[in-house]
Amino acid sequence: MGITIRGTGKFVPEKILTNADLEKMVETSDEWITTRTGIHQRHLAAADVATSDLAYEAAKQALDMAGIKPEELDLITVATVTPDMGFPNTAALVQKKLKAQKCVCFDLEAACSGLLYSIEVAHSLLLANKKYRKALVIGAEKLSSIVDWTDRGTCVLFGDGAAALVLESSDEIEGDFYIAGKLAADGNYDNILRLPAGGSAMPASHETVDQHLHCIKMAGQETFKLAVNAMVSACKEVLEISGVEPENVAWIIPHQANHRIISAVAQRLTISDDRVYSNIERYGNTSSASIGICLDELNRAGKLKKGDVVLLTAFGGGLTWGAELIRW
Ligand code: COA
Repeated sequence: MGITIRGTGKFVPEKILTNADLEKMVETSDEWITTRTGIHQRHLAAADVATSDLAYEAAKQALDMAGIKPEELDLITVATVTPDMGFPNTAALVQKKLKAQKCVCFDLEAACSGLLYSIEVAHSLLLANKKYRKALVIGAEKLSSIVDWTDRGTCVLFGDGAAALVLESSDEIEGDFYIAGKLAADGNYDNILRLPAGGSAMPASHETVDQHLHCIKMAGQETFKLAVNAMVSACKEVLEISGVEPENVAWIIPHQANHRIISAVAQRLTISDDRVYSNIERYGNTSSASIGICLDELNRAGKLKKGDVVLLTAFGGGLTWGAELIRW
């Protein structure tokens, strides 16, 4: 039995917020945002669009490419920190939109590492149990709904978007796309990147709304340093486990949080710039969607050849981080 990535998809909302637009909202400048982050613009969903709507659009594209009907799916997962609501889970809301009747649905929250965590979970289910043959793995975020638009330290960074992968296991498929993975977490750093209110620890109240506690809070510099070290060490570990040399990696797709983080990670792994995929200038940080959006862009541009080894790496709140080596 083999397991493969049958299809990929992505969706970003039409509306664009440029750095020039942000200059009118907070005390910032295009020059500061561009040089410190690499971001030029981000896409924002309309008020009446929820994360499941973004996920649904990406899912349709991935299913279409895979040639798989929604009713054939055994599993839908949505990695997100911006679910439509407390419950039902976002995957179930996507299931409803797709009319995918017979599948198991759950969300996975591992912040910006969500898609890597989901790939590992879905791959493990497909590997372990023949009940699961066709899985839709989604990373989707409406981060604009949890951004504090008065905080210049965070509001310039994030955007909305979704990405989807269709995984399939079958006796007819040769080999396994998943070469090796290293996932990790350290809850001791829970304070440096969080959305404090709205859960059981701090339920919503007038005070939490007044104090913008339903928004992303981040210690930027500390996060930056930890992100580089964590991603580099996870990448080194998967390369070592799998016996793959950095020069044999066709592409590295790091989570799109900051172009300086992306460059530092690639440099320390000795992966040349021409093999680093980045689109942060167009989308900003879309959290659990970012790696999937990159993968879909590479795939649809015909830049992934059969057999290519691709290194994915992510870092996010939790803290969570990891790396996965996949074969196209
Ligand atoms: N425009 C203008 N100035 C800004 C600004 C903005 N949007 N945001 C912050 N500043 C100011 C700060 O107030 C500070 O001013 P001060 O020196 O007068 O106090 C100065 O710029 C430097 O701030 P600092 O936070 O040290 O900047 P930085 O170089 O670390 O860049 C981030 C800030 C957020 C871009 C960077 O730390 C980062 O990308 N961190 C990691 C983000 C990340 O990975 N997050 C998610 C993980 S999934």
